Amino acid sequence: MAADYAYALVQVAHNFGAAAVVGGPAAAWLWVREQRETPVLLAWLTACGWLAQVISGAGFGLTSYLSRGELPEVTGIALIALYIKAGCAIAGFALTMFHLLAPPHLCEQTQRWIWPGLLAVGSAALSGAAFLRWFG
Ligand code: HEM
Repeated sequence: MAADYAYALVQVAHNFGAAAVVGGPAAAWLWVREQRETPVLLAWLTACGWLAQVISGAGFGLTSYLSRGELPEVTGIALIALYIKAGCAIAGFALTMFHLLAPPHLCEQTQRWIWPGLLAVGSAALSGAAFLRWFG
């Protein structure tokens, strides 16, 4: 019972994180087509979303370990999907932070491709989640 609450709370964080890493870049992409400045708040929302995915993703494993004494066995297609999600989370966080912290002239150059790129990375991770769910 306590483990179910823990899983549900971790899932809440994971679901909002997923919404942020797909919705953030989509909204930012639309924004930069109209305005030239970096949508800083949306960029931070996206960065926090990626971080939330890594922490809550690890939270799933931690909850399993604490409640059952072992990590879930993930193999085959589900394992590949998990690697893809983890890779997307690391790449997505790094790209978003790079865009936020890069000097202004570099930021201007990356403005055109960064948001569609991050939207693609977020969408790949979200698609991977479906394979992890049904092959896991
Ligand atoms: C280090 C990165 C990540 C780890 C370790 C991780 C791990 C997990 C785990 C263990 C589950 C539960 C799977 C199950 O119920 O069988 C899950 C579910 C989910 N993950 Fe992740 N995840 C990560 C990144 C992401 C990212 C970046 C996204 C979205 C863009 C994402 C979206 C989802 C969604 C939507 C679910 C719910 C799937 C469902 O039950 O239908 N995850 N994740």
